[in-house]
Amino acid sequence: MNYQNSYHLAWQYLIFLPIILSGLWSCDGGSHEVDLGYTAQRTAVFDSAAIVSAHPLASEAGLQIMRQGGNAVDAAIAVQFALAVVYPRAGNIGGGGFMVIRTAEGQTAALDYRERAPAAAHKDMYLDSLGNVIEGLSTRGHLAVGVPGTVAGMWEAFTKFGQLESWEMLLEPAISLAQNGFRISATEAARLNRYHDDFVELNTQPNVFTRKKTWKEGDLLVQPQLAATLRAIQQQGPKGFYQGKVAELIVAEMKRGGGLITLEDLRNYTASWRTPIEGRYKNYRIISMPPPSSGGIVLLQMLQMVAPYPIKEWGFHALPTVHLMVEVERRAYADRAAYLGDPDYYPVPIAQLLDPDYLKAKMSDFDPQRATPSTALQALSTQPLPEHFETTHTSVVDPQGNAASVTTTLNSNYGCKIVVGGAGFFLNNEMDDFSAKPGVPNQFGLVGAEANAIAPGKRMLSSMTPTIVEHDNSLRYVLGAPGGSTIITAVFQVLLNQMEFGMSLDSAVQAPRFHHQFLPDVIMYERNAWDSTFIAQLHAMGHQTKEVDRMAVIKAIARLPNGKLVAAGDHRNPDDDVAGW
Ligand code: DON
Repeated sequence: MNYQNSYHLAWQYLIFLPIILSGLWSCDGGSHEVDLGYTAQRTAVFDSAAIVSAHPLASEAGLQIMRQGGNAVDAAIAVQFALAVVYPRAGNIGGGGFMVIRTAEGQTAALDYRERAPAAAHKDMYLDSLGNVIEGLSTRGHLAVGVPGTVAGMWEAFTKFGQLESWEMLLEPAISLAQNGFRISATEAARLNRYHDDFVELNTQPNVFTRKKTWKEGDLLVQPQLAATLRAIQQQGPKGFYQGKVAELIVAEMKRGGGLITLEDLRNYTASWRTPIEGRYKNYRIISMPPPSSGGIVLLQMLQMVAPYPIKEWGFHALPTVHLMVEVERRAYADRAAYLGDPDYYPVPIAQLLDPDYLKAKMSDFDPQRATPSTALQALSTQPLPEHFETTHTSVVDPQGNAASVTTTLNSNYGCKIVVGGAGFFLNNEMDDFSAKPGVPNQFGLVGAEANAIAPGKRMLSSMTPTIVEHDNSLRYVLGAPGGSTIITAVFQVLLNQMEFGMSLDSAVQAPRFHHQFLPDVIMYERNAWDSTFIAQLHAMGHQTKEVDRMAVIKAIARLPNGKLVAAGDHRNPDDDVAGW
C-alpha cells in the first residue's frame, strides 16, 4: 500500500505551501513596500486566553475586549462586529450564524441566529411556470436574501452570557475600523476584484465597493455608511438594526430590486436558544450545533459510525480508513438530505438519527472492499460543486476557561452581492440553503426534500458546525470552519486526526482532507492529498474521485492537559490569525 508515500508527499507540500504562497504574495505588485500594520499568525501557544479568527484585526478586537475584562462571549461578539468591517466577504451584520458556548463551570448553550425566510416567501418561489428551478434566483440579487439574524444573535449572546457592563464597548473596535479604515489584504483585494462586475450589475446605489474597480493589497478601505449603521446598533441595540432608519434602508433596498423583506419581517426576527447536540466519542464529549444546522447531528452520526473500527491501527489516510470514512460520510449526508431542516417547521427525528441501533443498522450494508453507490441509499440527483463560497468561524477561550465557538455567514462571497443602499453592508444569499425543489442541488451540490422546503419564517438548513469538545470533563477543543457542505467532514477529520491519529492541533488542521456528501456520488480530495496509485485503488473499489483546490478552513483551539492553549488557523486562508496571551 502506498498511502505512506502519498501522505509524506502531501505533507511536504503542506510544509512548503505557506512559503510558496508568501512568495507569490510578495511578487504581487511590489507588496513589500506596503505596510498593512498587521500580520496574520497561523499558530501559537498561549498561557491564558486565545482567539482564532479569519482576520488579524478582528482577533485584535476580541483580544482588546478580553483585556478590558470581557469573557469569551464578549470577545466573540467584538470579533463578529469587527469581521463585518474587515472581512466583508463573510463577516457580516447582513447574514446569520450559530454560537456554541461552554462556560468554565461546564454549562453549555447553543444560539441560533440563522436567517429566516421572509413572510412572503413560498415553497415554489424559485421555480418557473414549468416547475424548473430558475438558475441564480436564490443566489444573486434581492430575492436571495433571508432576514438577517446576526445583530439579534449578538445581543442575545451578550444579554445571557456577556460579562462586560457595556454593550457599547463591543462595537467600538468595529466602528473605529469602519470609520478610519484599514488596509486590505491580498486575498481581500483579489476577491473584491473578482466580484466587481457583480457589484456593479446588482447595486443601484453608490457604495465603497462599486466605486473602485481595481483593488490591491494595502489599499485603505473606509466605510462611513457602515460606521453609521454600527453606531445605531451600538446606541440602540437590535432596535438600531431591526427598526428605525437602518430597517427602512433595508426595506427600501428590497423594494428597488423586488426583494421580499418587509419592516414586519425585520421587527419579528428573534434569535433562538436551542439545546446543543451532545454525544460521546470514546472519552470525549462532543457539544455541537443542533438543527437548523445539520452540523452537530451529522458530525455525531459520523463519529459514532466510525467508532467500532480500528482506524488508529489502520492509520491516517490508509486505504481502509479513507474508504470507511467516505462510506460513513455518504450515509450521514443521505440522512441530512432526507430528514434535516428547521425543527420549528419540521419534526426532525433527532433522537432516532443518533440512536446507536439505528446507526449500526445504517452500517449493516457497509462493504470493506466496495463503495456503496449512493443510488443504493436513495436516488436523488447529481451535480458538480462550484467553488466560490465564503463563511467565517471564530474560536475563543478566555482566562477563566469559558469557550465560544461561532460560525457566521453571508453564504456566498459577499452574499447576494448587494450592499444596502445608504447602510453600507452586504446582504446574505442564504435562501439558497433551502431546497428549492426536492432533489435539485443547491450551490454546494446538496440536495434536500420536504424537511428543508421553503416556508414563511422558516430557517434554511445549514452545515455550519461550531463545536466544543471535552475530555475527562474538561475543555479540550474549540473548533469550526467555513466551507459549505465540507464543514462537517472537516470538523470530523480534524477531530479524528487528533483523537485517533495523535496529531498535534496544527498538523491536524493543515493535513489534507477529503469529502463525500452522498450526492454527487464522488469523493472530493484536496490537491496533492493522494498520489495516483492511491486514487487508482479507490477507483478499483468503485469510488469516483474529484480533485479540488481546498475545502473548509478550520479555526481551532486545543487546551492541553497542562492548561496551555494551542491556537491554529488554517493555511487554506492566508488571513487566518491567532491571538492571545
Ligand atoms: O450554512 C451553510 O451551511 C452555508 N450557508 C455555509 C456557507 C459557507 O460555509 C461558505 N463558505 N465557505
